[in-house]
Amino acid sequence: MTTPTHIYDVLIIGSGAAGMTLALQLDHDYRIAILSKDEPNEGSTYYAQGGVAAVLDEYDSMESHIEDTLNAGAGLCHEDVVKFTVKHSPEIIDWLVEMGVNFDMEPNAKGAKQFHLTKEGGHSHRRVIHAADATGKEIALTLYNQLNQYPYVTFFKQFVAVDLINAHNIGRKGNQCLGAYVLNLETQQVELFRAKYVILATGGASKVYLYTSNPDTASGDGIAMAWRTGCRVGNLEFNQFHPTCLYHPEAKSFLISEALRGEGAKLVLPDGQEFMQRFDDRGELAPRDIVARAIDHEMKRLGCDCVYLDISHKEPEFIKSHFPTIYGRCLELGIDITTSPIPIVPAAHYTCGGIVTDMHGQTDVPNLYAIGESSFTGLHGANRMASNSLLECMVFATAAAKHIMTQPKEQPIDFTIPDWDESQVTNSDEDVIISHNWDELRRFMWDYVGIVRTDKRLQRARRRVLLLNQEVTEYYSNYKISNDLLELRNLITVADLIIQSAIRRKESRGLHFTLDYPDLLTNPHDTLLVPPNYG
Ligand code: FAD
Ligand code: SIN
Repeated sequence: MTTPTHIYDVLIIGSGAAGMTLALQLDHDYRIAILSKDEPNEGSTYYAQGGVAAVLDEYDSMESHIEDTLNAGAGLCHEDVVKFTVKHSPEIIDWLVEMGVNFDMEPNAKGAKQFHLTKEGGHSHRRVIHAADATGKEIALTLYNQLNQYPYVTFFKQFVAVDLINAHNIGRKGNQCLGAYVLNLETQQVELFRAKYVILATGGASKVYLYTSNPDTASGDGIAMAWRTGCRVGNLEFNQFHPTCLYHPEAKSFLISEALRGEGAKLVLPDGQEFMQRFDDRGELAPRDIVARAIDHEMKRLGCDCVYLDISHKEPEFIKSHFPTIYGRCLELGIDITTSPIPIVPAAHYTCGGIVTDMHGQTDVPNLYAIGESSFTGLHGANRMASNSLLECMVFATAAAKHIMTQPKEQPIDFTIPDWDESQVTNSDEDVIISHNWDELRRFMWDYVGIVRTDKRLQRARRRVLLLNQEVTEYYSNYKISNDLLELRNLITVADLIIQSAIRRKESRGLHFTLDYPDLLTNPHDTLLVPPNYG
């Protein structure tokens, strides 16, 4: 059967903050396709709570934001990238306001309106601009509405990119991205998207862990596809666990924003005792790796299922107006946060490493870019500081758009790309392999490659991931693809890359903590993995 074919100037895989910003920043005569594997706004961006870090206060400074980011990153941030990102933070906020994003305002001393800035871990100033506790929703809906006005942009929802097409895979000379094969979930047919420029904006891979704050889309598809097509990946051992996710049987992955701690919430043990000062002078506002490890330590020491976050000492009106989403969701579950502490546990939240890119978002494969959480720009080092992620999405999407506009626009269509070949596969009669392996993978990643690691646990995880890889590769070559199979295949690839990276790091730094190497190396370096088909 002939594969249905679409031809665009730019193919953006992912419609979160990164993908939508890039589409809006390109000149309006580029023909753009944006894919999302679910509804366009289903992704981490929509669920972002705290806000966007930016230097906006007259008493704050670029130097201070840079220094805080470097400190949180524990010696591995690329300083040039940190400076570049922070320098562009005010203009990104100006752009968002121009697009129509409504951030919270407050009166200043003279009665004029100014942005309300909140505080989060690692920040030495109030510099997190926000829309109550639903900043991501406000940004996502605003950018989506803007894009819908432009006839040159087409959204393809429930279209799952399967693999990238590189010239050398189709028997042509050179290493160059030409497009992607994409599964249309409605028809269950694979379609071909050809484009001069392809952008991976697919988000992170936190779904590789059993417990996560992330939505289902975060299965590392972009990282796995980039690896298969010949891109290096970097620092994938640095998986960020958010200290405070709601612990409740009915709450699947609901985050309790760090902004609560920024506004004075305290972490307490089941008996009501505070404990953070025992671990760090900055208490609740120490960087995330430190707070998550402290909670993990206390939960293991006491054998308890969760600890608590208490903001009930603040005025009820303050809590309800600053945190309406969290207040409402907890109340639905029977927890009134104005009077009771909130049960919380750490959960996988953010993928600090990813596809290696330069300052324009370019990957190792010509014409292929990676932006947002799927990328490794060097900004976050060994631990991302709160609210620097949305900033990175938008700064690098803008940089990539500018770079694309300096390049030739024409799409070479003087050759054919092979049709998707399904002649050798049948419908699966054993889907249990997918569901079983899916559960097994996420559980051993949580148990063996989590907040505290050891060589033995990592080796155990590696043996298991290799087995799963073998089984799923065989399954993939014999049966028709489905979204679950694609996600499982990608999660296995990313899990393997995470484990390999963790095994290589012989020290404890930032988010990578191992009992076998508790100290810091004096000469730290990034963990770069090179695929067999690199270059
Ligand atoms: P996403 O927003 O995750 O979007 C990914 C897109 O890729 C989706 O459209 C998805 O459908 C698509 N996709 C994925 N795979 C495929 C495929 N194979 N084919 C087609 N499409 C695909 N950061 C902050 O800076 N501040 C915060 O306050 C904050 N709060 C957060 C709260 C929560 C609960 C979570 C989960 C994260 C939070 N973060 C925050 C992190 C931040 O939200 C994310 O890092 C950021 O939104 C990632 O944006 P993105 O555009 O890279 O990816
Ligand atoms: C939060 O609101 O706690 C999440 C902020 C972030 O991940 O940057």
